[in-house]
Amino acid sequence: MCLTIPAKVISVEDSGDNLPLKRITIRDSRGERSITALFEDIRAGDWVLYASDMAVEKISEDDAREILELLEPRSHIDISRLDSVFLEILKACHTRELRREEIIRLLHASEGVEMEALLSEANTIRQARLRDFFCIHGIIEFSSHCVRNCLYCGLRRDSNDIQRYRMRPDEIVNSVYDAVNRRGYKLIVLQSGDDFYYTDDMLCDIIRKIKEKCRVFIFMSVGERSRTSYEKMKDAGANGVLFRFETSNKAIYNSIHPGQSYDERIALLLEMKKLGYFIATGFLIGLPGQTVEDIADDIITIKSLGANMVTVGPFIPSDVTPLALHPAGSAAMTLKVTAISRLLTPKAKIPVTTALETIENEAGRKLGLSSGANALMFNLTPEKYRGDYMIYPNKYHGKEEFWEKYGLYKEELSYKMLEKKMSEAFEE
Ligand code: 5AD
Repeated sequence: MCLTIPAKVISVEDSGDNLPLKRITIRDSRGERSITALFEDIRAGDWVLYASDMAVEKISEDDAREILELLEPRSHIDISRLDSVFLEILKACHTRELRREEIIRLLHASEGVEMEALLSEANTIRQARLRDFFCIHGIIEFSSHCVRNCLYCGLRRDSNDIQRYRMRPDEIVNSVYDAVNRRGYKLIVLQSGDDFYYTDDMLCDIIRKIKEKCRVFIFMSVGERSRTSYEKMKDAGANGVLFRFETSNKAIYNSIHPGQSYDERIALLLEMKKLGYFIATGFLIGLPGQTVEDIADDIITIKSLGANMVTVGPFIPSDVTPLALHPAGSAAMTLKVTAISRLLTPKAKIPVTTALETIENEAGRKLGLSSGANALMFNLTPEKYRGDYMIYPNKYHGKEEFWEKYGLYKEELSYKMLEKKMSEAFEE
């Protein structure tokens, strides 16, 4: 669903003809504007939630202030204190592609004014290019079985001591119905380990059943399957894939993904793009041996793959893996990468990842959203399974209800807005 934005009603135009739709003037951080209210009972001084130039419902002033605090731009930064080269790079991103060395310089932004300036610039670009378009998406983790043995992942094949589960196809379909029809979600990621128990036919059947009954974008996150599998799923109605390349450093890739190949993964991503999928991809921050230069290459790889959604999170150690003692990736670096991704891909959808929320809690959500991110991804896995999807421990699960109450439920309007923004992502 799209997140709606609060604004104060300054005046209500008297249309004189008792039409159910009223023109109203609202004031928010961008000034005063005339929009249409989708309800009648409205007066000057009221607070409303709006999206796409339409006031959707009235809310209390307290609720309005609570959400505004989260979305309001960062305070003004004193750019006179910035290093001139750094400032030049921030300006250059408006008119041309940044070079690798420039991305590296931004990644080295020091704590304090440089980092503030970088995050604030990303937030400004997000506001200018996407206005206040924020989304809340859902993820359903339907199987924790995995044939791969990725060194960092708690669900790896060799994790013997963990409880594994598989949701039945009808359970998956019903969970999506509930998320869409009752809670208002418009984009759902279906995620699992690389689990071939689910045949192509089973996955396609699940997708078809969902699509028969709900207007929803379905993103598949089911790992490395053949091009043909992805073609079948696309034909069945899947819209996107969430498939990270994890790192663009081949040597690191090969050392942490036994039996897998970086080139094959990238080739599959390119095939997915050709098949017409929306591409959500990204990488991990804080992998063993990863340098700032590698991270710059990761960002460049996202750009070159033409991703519509950028998903980047810190590595978090899991006790049941060979990387149990390797330190977690840094939240500061994750925020810098989020911000630089926004500078390079102004229209992409950038969710705050659960991993960032896990290391920073609710603050991670706010920090992400004011550093260029424009989406949240909520865990909708049924309660009885959720604790067993242990990619890493203590996965964050926050104030979903607080956010959902600001969601835009109006079926068509919300779906259409999303459709338009999805297609625009990455267009220049
Ligand atoms: N820490 C953070 N993210 C992880 N993932 C897997 N293991 C971890 C971990 N220990 C991420 C991978 C994968 C996604 C589903 O979860 O990037 O693509």
